[in-house]
Amino acid sequence: MGERQTARRGGRGALPSQRTAGVRAAIGAAARRPCTLVVCRGCCCGVARKHPGFDHAWQLERLRAAAAASGGGFQVRTTDCLGVCEQANVVVVQPSADGRRAGGRAAWVGFALDDDRTEEILEWAAAGGPGLVAPPATLEKLFVGPPREDPARRPREGRARRR
Ligand code: FES
Repeated sequence: MGERQTARRGGRGALPSQRTAGVRAAIGAAARRPCTLVVCRGCCCGVARKHPGFDHAWQLERLRAAAAASGGGFQVRTTDCLGVCEQANVVVVQPSADGRRAGGRAAWVGFALDDDRTEEILEWAAAGGPGLVAPPATLEKLFVGPPREDPARRPREGRARRR
């Protein structure tokens, strides 16, 4: 990105007022963020070789179509492997900004491998998602935890990082 473009977006080289406007826009967007379905499509999720007998492409199309029809009520994005392959297909239901303010936290749904689970995820997101509406009981049974943090990758306290 050129310096002019960077400056226009409120980054380096921007006037202080442009930078402030950029920060305000980012904060405003975060304050209005809707519930988001993060659909894993890595090495195991969405892969027919690992889970034959389920139409993974249909699932993603169904989620995207419902998000488009929601008029901004919720959104869908895909991600690479989330590190819990043994629970594929994984969909993380992230709370909206309002849901997060109400105490909602991301819900990791594992084994999302049938039409009913897909519809339950959609219905929950359309109703508001974490923090605003309780999940369907049958969906809650499929909640899994995020992968444990690898202590070897964590920087040690009191030790300066090399640059
Ligand atoms: S591919 Fe989905 S958790 Fe690894």
